[in-house]
This record gives sequence, structure tokens and C-alpha cells, in this order.
Amino acid sequence: MVSRMEEFQVPFSRGLEGVPVAITAISHIDGKQGNLIYRGFPIEVLAQFSTFEETTYLLWFGDLPNKDELENFKRDLIEHRRIPDFMKECIGNIPRDTHPMEALRTCVSMLGCFDPDKHDTSRGARIRKAVRITAQMATIVAYAHRTRKGLELIDPNPNLSHAANLLYMLTGEVPDAETARLMDVILILHAEHGMNASTFAAMVIASTLSDMHSAIVGGIGALRGPLHGGANERVLEMIEEIGSVENVEPYIKNALAQRRRIMGFGHRVYKTYDPRARILKEYARKLSQKSGQTKWFEIAEKIEEVVIRELGAKGVFPNVDFYSAIVYKMLDLPKEIFTPLFAAARVAGWTAHVLEYLQNNRIFRPTSIYNGPTEVEYIPLEER
Ligand code: ACO
Repeated sequence: MVSRMEEFQVPFSRGLEGVPVAITAISHIDGKQGNLIYRGFPIEVLAQFSTFEETTYLLWFGDLPNKDELENFKRDLIEHRRIPDFMKECIGNIPRDTHPMEALRTCVSMLGCFDPDKHDTSRGARIRKAVRITAQMATIVAYAHRTRKGLELIDPNPNLSHAANLLYMLTGEVPDAETARLMDVILILHAEHGMNASTFAAMVIASTLSDMHSAIVGGIGALRGPLHGGANERVLEMIEEIGSVENVEPYIKNALAQRRRIMGFGHRVYKTYDPRARILKEYARKLSQKSGQTKWFEIAEKIEEVVIRELGAKGVFPNVDFYSAIVYKMLDLPKEIFTPLFAAARVAGWTAHVLEYLQNNRIFRPTSIYNGPTEVEYIPLEER
């Protein structure tokens, strides 16, 4: 019997657009107004006053920590930054042409094998795993990058914040206070974003009562794609390819005529300016002016102008991936680690949703509308 639309309780929605799949108190996006809140706090406020550690605590536990809680939480994260030596060797054995997102996915999977709570499925163990994965993912991103470049691996520095230590392990230099603060803001802005594809992927895996590491591996895999977190790397590729402000208009018009997507623009929920892009744009502007290297920012601003003129009526505006690419470029970070950096931040949101969902779990098991043939006659192999 072929299934029919009328049999379903809810209308079919391609890509689950507009379909609520969970009830959450973690974050909310107002796509019409361009507002984002984490646990009730506007993203602009967190970007101004919070740190990645504090924001992660907020996302997981629902409230801002007091001083002692924050100190303990930070200590916990610092304690778990190191990865087993065996894993360092494994990273060294990954072919050099492997994208760092693939290395990250593989390594997080491997971390699961070393996790001291690997046989414990309690909430306490899940939280401990979330701490370890969050702490160690930053290390893996840095090590995957340095190994690829043939650079020596740098031990985590327990005296640095999560953001500063991440930059330190990547570059080998302790960042100045301003750069460390910027990295913190980047991590906060990328930490959480509701029911996006990677968070949903992680939750689907967790809902089968699989383990935390598997859920995060799923999240990494989903984030990698160019329609999601992988867009930030493509943004810089596009900007470099365009090469000058004069080339922007013909490049964008040509791309749109060919029905190509402009990377770093558009969003399923935001039909206006993404508030994270607004914040990052100002950092991109300041960094460009400070470095005297304004060309990339100018190209980006021109792309924004042309795309909004051409597609603004459809609700297509810059998303988080657009100006983050310029900010990373100004920090002299290579394109292939843009998406891994996104993952190192988003792990806070993935784990928050897994922890929340499992408190009232129901396995995700949607359905589909069959439109294939029925009652087909089976012809034996020798007669085909
Ligand atoms: N470039 C050109 N046209 C676009 C873009 C874009 N970046 N984004 C949307 N549109 C157009 C679509 O072609 C469509 O036009 P149509 O109605 O004439 O067919 C209209 O805007 C609506 O777009 P949808 O495809 O319905 O949007 P959807 O919600 O399915 O896709 C997505 C959202 C995947 C983010 C899309 O905007 C896109 O591909 N953007 C580029 C990739 C990107 O930047 N991804 C990062 C998103 S943010 C994040 O995940 C962290």
C-alpha cells in the first residue's frame, strides 16, 4: 500500500522546516528580529561580558555559575586538556592531506575508547564526558593543524583560559589579552544555536541511548558540510578568488545566474541579519584597520552589499560564517581550521542539548512517505 499525505498527522516539510522536534530551555532564535538568546541572555550581552567557560556552564546547567562554581568548572576543563600519547601518535599517522575536520571526527571517536566512564551511562558520567570532550577537542584541533604543518605539538598551558590556550596550542605563542578576548568572543558566538543540523544529528544519536562520544562524532560530521559549518572555509576561498572590490559585482551576479549559493549568506531561521555576524563584522573591521590590511574586509563588505541588494527580499543576509572568515584571516589562521574551530565551540551546545534531551528521552523515529512501486513481481535471477 502506498502511503498518502493524508495519513500523516503533520504536513510533510522538506528538511523538517518549521517542525518542532524538541522542547528546550537552552537557546532561542527570533529569526524575524534577528535576536539570539542563550538561557535568556542576549548573545550581545554574553559576547561583551562572558567567557567560553562561563557560557558553557550556563548552557549545561541553566544558570550563571557563582565564583566557586566557575573556578571549579575551569579547573575541571584545564585538568582534561591533555590527550593520551597514543592519540598524538595516531594524529601523526593520519595522511597529511586529510582535512582537520576528518581528523577531529576520528580523534573524538577514539577518545571514547579511552574515556574512564565509557561503560557508565549515568547523567553524572555524561557530564564528565562533556567536560572531557570539550576540553580535549581544542587540543585535538590544535594538534591536527600542527601535525599537518609538520610543527611540534605544544602542551596545554594550565595558566591560560580555554580560548587563550587554544590559540597558544595552535600558534605556539601566548596571545595578547585583546586577541585572547576576541577568541573567547568567537567561541561564545559559536557555542550554541538551537536545532541546527549538527545539534539535531547529535541528539538523534543520543536518543538511541548511544554514548556521548558517538553523538559528538555525529555532530562533527554534520557540521562539516558546506551548507552548515563548512561554509566559513568556503567564504574565504570565495573572497580570495574574487580578489578585488571591482570583481565583486560580476562574480556575484554570475554565481547567482548559475544558481550557485553564496557562502556565508542565508539561513533557515534568520530572514534578517544574523546577530552573530553583526558582532563579528565589527571585529573584522577593527582588525583590518589595525593591521592596515583592509582589502579583504572591503571585498567582504562589497559582497554583502551586492548580495543583500540581489537577495535581501528573499531574506538572505550574512550569517555567522561570513565575517568569522575575515576575523580568522586577520588572526592569520589557516582556512582549513575555521570549521574545526567552530566545532570546538559548538561542542558546548551539542553536549548541552544531549544532556537536556536525555532527561526526558524519546527515540527519534520520524517517518517517510513511500512513493515507490508496489506489488512488483519477483523474477528469478536466471530469467532476468
Ligand atoms: N546564495 C544564494 N541564494 C540563496 C542562498 C545563498 N547563500 N541562501 C538562500 N538562497 C535562496 C534560495 O536559492 C532560495 O531561493 P528560491 O526561493 O528562489 O529558490 C531562497 O533563498 C530560500 O532558500 P532555501 O534554500 O529555502 O533556504 P534553506 O533554509 O533551505 O537553506 C542555507 C539555508 C542552507 C543556510 C542556505 O541559505 C545556504 O545554502 N547558504 C549558503 C551556505 C551557508 O552559508 N551555510 C551556513 C549557514 S549558517 C550555519 O550553518 C552555521
